Amino acid sequence: MRDEYAVRAEGLEKKYGDKRALDGFDLRVRRGTVHGLLGPNGAGKTTAVRILSTLIRLDGGHATVAGLDVAARPWAVRSRIGLTGQYAAVDEVLTGRQNLEMFGRLFHLGGRGARRRASELLDRFDLSDAADKGVGKYSGGMRRRLDLAASMILSPEVLFLDEPTTGLDPRSRNEVWDSVRALVADGTTVLLTTQYLEEADKLASHITVIDQGKSIADDTPDGLKNTVGADLIEVVAAEVADLPAVAKVVARVCAGEPEIDELDRRVHASVSDRVAALTEVARTLQDEGIGVEDIGLRRPSLDDVFLNLTGHRTVAEEAA
Ligand SMILES: Nc1ncnc2c1ncn2[C@@H]1O[C@H](COP(=O)(O)OP(=O)(O)OP(=O)(O)O)[C@@H](O)[C@H]1O
Ligand SMILES: [Mg+2]
Repeated sequence: MRDEYAVRAEGLEKKYGDKRALDGFDLRVRRGTVHGLLGPNGAGKTTAVRILSTLIRLDGGHATVAGLDVAARPWAVRSRIGLTGQYAAVDEVLTGRQNLEMFGRLFHLGGRGARRRASELLDRFDLSDAADKGVGKYSGGMRRRLDLAASMILSPEVLFLDEPTTGLDPRSRNEVWDSVRALVADGTTVLLTTQYLEEADKLASHITVIDQGKSIADDTPDGLKNTVGADLIEVVAAEVADLPAVAKVVARVCAGEPEIDELDRRVHASVSDRVAALTEVARTLQDEGIGVEDIGLRRPSLDDVFLNLTGHRTVAEEAA
């Protein structure tokens, strides 16, 4: 019987000197899905992808990809996977078509096979019009799509995408997302690492959250949001000086302590009765003459989930 998981990792360990990049990392990726591996800078995402794609060896634990042991059968694993690294691998001087034909020949497709595959992929990734332009003239989104195309030369069973949209503008990001969706519709399993909560939420049916080399959560995007619980009320004060007064008003309608974010002049707290809480807070703020810039309700974001799981925000980690 075919394994229902395309990737299984149990207790992966990897040390660089004294640094434990992976420290008992677990992961299961169901076949035919996009699985998000979400974590801040330095969490261990690239290390996990490098081990699973057999670029580096693990120090401990056990992993299979497409049912094959990565440590015992790296060559067999390599024939079933594709990898798009964190940094682009295509040649700038060659055209898009020449790049893909070159990869095709590297993978022993022969001249004619390589040309045919290159045309198919250019078409599939919507690059036919730009096929004969030098890659140096491509936009960021086009390059990433060419990168994706290059990692698809052999129609891999499992594709690893390491931060495929980092540094792209919103439009290019959307183009890459569409390409990823198309791949999965064709049956490829995708493991996608990202620091973007929105990206994991949009693309992945399942998310593993990684922090300091450990998996700290594994759930659907909605499941993760539900662990944070109720909806949030959020008030943006007009003046920093008003924050304590705003927090006092918000405290009346929520169970715990409201959170104050001075940088954004924001107070937020989870509430059970959304509309009653909103009405009460808006009226009291007005009665007491406290100026607000914005007030509203929102569902918890994955950023809130991260804060809940780790005690720190992902952006705080990046800024540090
Ligand atoms: N070749 C290396 N030598 C020494 N330390 C390393 C090496 N590669 C990674 N590390 C360290 O291991 C930890 C995990 O790094 P990794 O690159 O896997 O994180 P990441 O989640 O991919 O981060 P990012 O989001 O910045 O790409 C970090 O502390 C990093 O500094
Ligand atoms: Mg990385």
